[in-house]
Amino acid sequence: MVTVVVGTQWGDEGKGKVIDYLAQDMDIVARYQGGGNAGHTVVIKNKQYIFHLVPSGILHPDMVCVIGNGVVVDPVSLFEEIEYLEKNGVSIEGRLFIAENAHITLPYHKILDQIEDKFRGKGSLGTTGRGTGTTYADKFNRIGIRVIDFLEEEIFTEKLKIALELKNYLFKEYYKEQMLAMEKIYEETRKYREKMKKMVKNIALYLDRETEKGKQVLAEGAQGTFLDIDFGTYPYVTASNTIAGGACTGLGLSPKKISRIIGVAKAYTTRVGMGPFPTELKGQEAENLRTTGNEYGATTGRPRRCGWFDAILVKFACRVNGLDELIMTKLDVLSGLRRIKIGTAYNFEGTVYNEYPLNTKVFTGCDVTYEEVDGWDENIGGIRRYSELPLNAKRYIEKIEQTVEVPITKISVGSSREQTISK
Ligand code: IMP
Repeated sequence: MVTVVVGTQWGDEGKGKVIDYLAQDMDIVARYQGGGNAGHTVVIKNKQYIFHLVPSGILHPDMVCVIGNGVVVDPVSLFEEIEYLEKNGVSIEGRLFIAENAHITLPYHKILDQIEDKFRGKGSLGTTGRGTGTTYADKFNRIGIRVIDFLEEEIFTEKLKIALELKNYLFKEYYKEQMLAMEKIYEETRKYREKMKKMVKNIALYLDRETEKGKQVLAEGAQGTFLDIDFGTYPYVTASNTIAGGACTGLGLSPKKISRIIGVAKAYTTRVGMGPFPTELKGQEAENLRTTGNEYGATTGRPRRCGWFDAILVKFACRVNGLDELIMTKLDVLSGLRRIKIGTAYNFEGTVYNEYPLNTKVFTGCDVTYEEVDGWDENIGGIRRYSELPLNAKRYIEKIEQTVEVPITKISVGSSREQTISK
C-alpha cells in the first residue's frame, strides 16, 4: 500500500533524509507535487546529493522512482540532476519514470517567475525563481504543455506557439523585457525530448497495478503544510497542494490506497522567503540556530529564517494531513541551549487562539504564548537509542507529542542514515 511523507512546517524539515531512510522498506518512491523549487538533501557516506525533481529514494540501487502528474518538470534541472547522479555512479536507467500528464517548465516560466515577483514590490513572495508557480498558472489557465505534448513535435510546436505569443506580449508590452524566440526554445529542448521519451509512463495506471501486486509505495511530498496553496499562509505559499491529499491528485492515486501518513517536523522552525512567522527569532539567537543547523536554502542558498517550534502549526498539520506519526529532525541542533521554547497559543487583540487561524491578519499580528523546558548540553549526534538521550531532550520530545497529540516515532540527530533513533 501507500505511505505518504509530508512536511509539517514551511518546508526544509529534512524530508530528503527521512525519505531515503524509509525507502529501505519500499519498492517505489513517487514524488507528487512541486517542481524545481524543492531541494531535498540526502547525505550518503559524506557525499551530499540535492534533489529538486528526482525522488529522494533514487540512491537505493533497486528502487523505482516516479515523478507524478502533480509535479511540474523543468527538463534542464531534471537532466542536470541525472547527470550528477550518473557521474557519481548512480544509474537511473529503467528505474526513473515521469507521468505523461505532468506539466513542463520552459524558459519563459522561469523568467516570468522572477520578474513577476519583482513586480509584486512590497508584496514580493520571495519565490525560488524556478518557474514553478508560473508553470502551475499555465496549467490551470489551460495553456500548459504536458510531458506527452512536449514529446510530440507537431503538438509541442503548436502549443508552444500559443503560449509564447501570450508570454512575448507580456514581456514586450508590459514588462519591457526581451521577447523569446520559439525556434530557440524548440532547439534547446530537443536533447531533453529525446532523452525523456523512454522515461514516460501512465503513472496512475502503473501505481495502481503495482500496488495491486502488493508493492510498497512511498509518496514523497515537497515543501510543507504551511506552503500549501489552500491551507498555507496565503499568499506567502507555493503553488501546489503540499498536504497529504495532494498525493492522490498528484499521482492519480485513490485515497483508499493510503495506509500510513507520516509527518516530518524539524525540532525548531525555519522559513525561506517572505511571509508571517510568529515564533521567529531575531539577532544572535536566530544566527546561532542558522549556523549550527546550516540553515541555508538547498535550492537558492538563501539564509533561512529561524525560530522556536510552533506546536499550534504542527497540531494543525497533524489534523489536515491525518498524520499517524511524526518524525522529528535536527534535534541535535538544539544541544547547548539553556532553555528551549515551544509556541503553544497565539494572542491577537485580546483573543487567545489555540488553533491555527487562516486569517492572515491574525497570524501576522499575533503574539505567541510559550512553554519553556530546560535544555541539554550533550552532543547527541552519536546516540542511537531513545533511552540514551539526555532526560531534557526526552522531556522536550514528550512535551511536543502531548501538545500535538501525535506520537513521535523517530528522531533524526544528524544528516546520515545511521543518525536515526527509533522511539
Ligand atoms: P515558489 O514555490 O518558488 O513559488 O516560492 C513560493 C514560496 O515558497 C517562497 O517563500 C519560497 O521560499 C517557498 N518555497 C518553495 N519551495 C520551497 C522548499 O522546497 N523549501 C522551502 N521553501 C520553499
